[in-house]
Amino acid sequence: MRRVLLAAPLAVVLLASPSPAAAQPWVVAPASDGADVISQLFWFTLVLATIVFVLVEGLLIYSSLRFRRRAPLPTREPPQIHGNTRLEVMWATVPALILIGLFGITVSRLGDLSQIPTDPNTLHISVTGRQFQWEFAYGNSGVKSNDLHIPVGTPLVFDVTSTDVIHSFWVPDLYGKIDANPGRVNRITFKANKPGEYRGVCAELCGAGHGGMLFRVEAVSQGEFQQWLQQQQAGAGAPAPAAVAPAPQPNTGAVASAVPSPAVKPAASPAAGASPVAPAPAPAPAPAAPAGANPADGAALIPQKGCGACHTIPGIPGATGNIGPNLAGVASRNRIAGGAVPNNGPDDLKRWIMNPPALKPGTAMPNLGLTDDEATKIVAYLETLK
Ligand code: CUA
Repeated sequence: MRRVLLAAPLAVVLLASPSPAAAQPWVVAPASDGADVISQLFWFTLVLATIVFVLVEGLLIYSSLRFRRRAPLPTREPPQIHGNTRLEVMWATVPALILIGLFGITVSRLGDLSQIPTDPNTLHISVTGRQFQWEFAYGNSGVKSNDLHIPVGTPLVFDVTSTDVIHSFWVPDLYGKIDANPGRVNRITFKANKPGEYRGVCAELCGAGHGGMLFRVEAVSQGEFQQWLQQQQAGAGAPAPAAVAPAPQPNTGAVASAVPSPAVKPAASPAAGASPVAPAPAPAPAPAAPAGANPADGAALIPQKGCGACHTIPGIPGATGNIGPNLAGVASRNRIAGGAVPNNGPDDLKRWIMNPPALKPGTAMPNLGLTDDEATKIVAYLETLK
């Protein structure tokens, strides 16, 4: 009996106390106005539920101990009690009131969350789920990406849909889940208020590759976001198939020079003899390209391998595909394949392009059967895309 006495309060304490993951504020660290509302609602409900739980369990434990059968056993039957109108009314009314209150608060908060801003300056981002990756298109900029880039402090509207089965778009730190249904657009809105990197997932079992249907969210300042957009546009607007040499891209120069490190190597822009990038101030040492591989060889190989049918690749004539991610800046991403694959240097990138399905089952990117040598050359070029 003593053991039960000790264990009962301990169990209550364990159930009611926060998780041991004390380093993090909680499972979710809200970083947008919408996530704040959801988080407040969560905490309010949890605290209320904890109070009710402790009260009910406490009374239960008290009653079982206080009124238990004791020795010596009574010689006569103890008083038998049937019904207590006041108590019964109370335990029906109080929970009903709590539920009605929670319902009211939830509905009003959901109403706040679903206020789609009509401000013309709002950035609209189209979110398309497909087995097994996400695609984000930014307003009418023509820019698409597989990681989500957002400016902080700006109201964002997401038009969420799918091309095949039901997926669910979820960035826990930024918003609740929203289904991506084929043939339907679900619209959500939020405003990120903290710069940072957030994790996004698909929250609806959608097939064999569901677990890898991840994406990164990069929330940056308005200025950095515009810069990223221009960098991507420079890639997307690059060489039309007919053009042999890429037309000078004013944006490319501007963006490249605005990037702190002079990462673009002069020798690394093979197809860009006329590119404004070429006369870079000092010949910086090749940062990441594997020794011996000439990026120019990779640039020559990429059109042969047909990479441009799916990818937009800056500096590669005709590489304007938009099925896979735009590869502008690919060497600077620390994760690729929608966040499923680490990208900490040429070796990671090489492993990926040599056999994508091995690293991310269900990926749309095929195994092209590249030889080791071909992969090394292609990676040498891709590593110049900072
Ligand atoms: Cu898409 Cu799970």
